[in-house]
Amino acid sequence: MDTGLKFHWENLYTGKSEQEYSWFQTFPHTSMGFIGQFNLPLNARIIDIGGGDSHLVDALLEYGFSNITVLDISARAIEKAQQRLGRPAEKVRWIECDINEFEPEPGAYDLWHDRAAFHFLTTEPLIARYADTVQRAVRPGGYFVLGTFSPDGPKKCSGLDIRQYSRAMIQAVFAPWFRRIRCEETAHVTPFQTTQHFLFCGFRRRR
Ligand SMILES: C[S@@+](CC[C@H](N)C(=O)[O-])C[C@H]1O[C@@H](n2cnc3c(N)ncnc32)[C@H](O)[C@@H]1O
Repeated sequence: MDTGLKFHWENLYTGKSEQEYSWFQTFPHTSMGFIGQFNLPLNARIIDIGGGDSHLVDALLEYGFSNITVLDISARAIEKAQQRLGRPAEKVRWIECDINEFEPEPGAYDLWHDRAAFHFLTTEPLIARYADTVQRAVRPGGYFVLGTFSPDGPKKCSGLDIRQYSRAMIQAVFAPWFRRIRCEETAHVTPFQTTQHFLFCGFRRRR
C-alpha cells in the first residue's frame, strides 16, 4: 500500500461534506446511462473502483442490483458511504484496498465501473497493471465503464496529477482485451459551478 497516497485520501475525506468535493454528483447520470444500456441481470456482479462515497451505489441499489462491491483506498470514504446508506449498506461488499494491489479472482465481475480513479495512475507500469487487472477480473462477455478527464479537462484532481485521455488513448490501453461499445464526452458541473470535461467509454470483454 502506498501509505502517502492513502494518507492523502483519508485526510481529504475527513472533515469535509460531499458538497465540497469537485467530483460530487447527486445522481451519476452518465454511468447509469451506460449500465442501463447493457441489460444486465439484477444479480450481475458489479464492482465500482475508487467508488469513494459516490452515489453510484445508491443508484444501483435503487435499480435493484443485488451483487455490488465498492472498492476504495480510503476507509473514511467507505464509512461515509455506509453511514449515508444506512441499512442498505449491509447488502454491499466493501473493500478497502489500493487498486494497484487488488488481486481479484479471474472472471469475478460482470461489470467493472471506474469514474475518476484510473486517471490518477500516471506511470506506464501502473497503467499496464490496471489494464491487466481489469482484463482478468471481467468475465469474457462482461462490461467495463471508464470515466476519465478528457484532453479539455483539468490536469489535476484534488491536488494530484492525473492523466487526461482521448478516445484513441483509452482505446490504445484496453483494445487488446476489450471491444469499445461507445464513448461519450460529458461536462460535469462541480458543486462550485465550474465545469470539468470527462470522457466516458463503455467496453465489452472479448470472449
Ligand atoms: C475523484 S474521486 C472519485 C470518486 C467516485 N468514483 C465518484 O465518481 O464520485 C477518486 C476516488 O478514488 C479513490 N482512489 C484514489 N486512488 C486510489 C487507489 N490507488 N486505489 C483505490 N482507490 C483510489 C479515492 O479515495 C477517491 O474516492
